[in-house]
Amino acid sequence: MNLLEIMQNRRSVRTYTGEKIPKEKLDQILQAGLLSPSGRNRKPWEFIVVQERETLEKLSHCRVGAAKMLENAGCAIVVFANPEKTDVWVEDSSIVMSNMHLMADALGLGSCWIQGRLREAENGESTEDYCRQLLNVPGEYVLEAILSVGMIEEHPKAHNLDELELAKIHYEIF
Ligand SMILES: Cc1cc2nc3c(=O)[nH]c(=O)nc-3n(C[C@H](O)[C@H](O)[C@H](O)COP(=O)(O)O)c2cc1C
Repeated sequence: MNLLEIMQNRRSVRTYTGEKIPKEKLDQILQAGLLSPSGRNRKPWEFIVVQERETLEKLSHCRVGAAKMLENAGCAIVVFANPEKTDVWVEDSSIVMSNMHLMADALGLGSCWIQGRLREAENGESTEDYCRQLLNVPGEYVLEAILSVGMIEEHPKAHNLDELELAKIHYEIF
């Protein structure tokens, strides 16, 4: 598959078999994250890889109705960043998330972006505080998002190039 075909095939996959992620595939996903570009090459991110079932279950409550797939995921990659390193930590961390999500799909794994920033956990805490406490994250780091990764139970069908919203593209002027 060429890169455009890989991008067409990339979908948010939320149903997993519950099996563990093979180490060599997990390592490649993490490498894809670390290969990401960042503003002034500051690399403000930190990744927390969660594979313990009990922690994944607790993590599934970090959002109201939007992180349930973590119960059955093989792992979660929680992305925190240090905003003191750069004012573009959101952009930098989003690229990391996107690259890891795409890499997972290219490796035949299912993954889904779970929004962390500006969201609430089931217990009413911010998702950030909930994750910080659960994962022992120091105060200077802030939460970007969580990537759930799992062995695929069901993969939605690939996006079709014919369905792209070409009207969103403007040439020369808006
Ligand atoms: C910034 C961002 C936040 C998202 N947050 C969530 C989320 O919290 N939970 C979830 O199940 N999916 C989440 N998604 C996945 C989107 O719902 C999904 O990308 C969108 O519906 C398009 O579907 P596709 O990824 O299969 O093409 C998020 C995606 C992005 C880019």
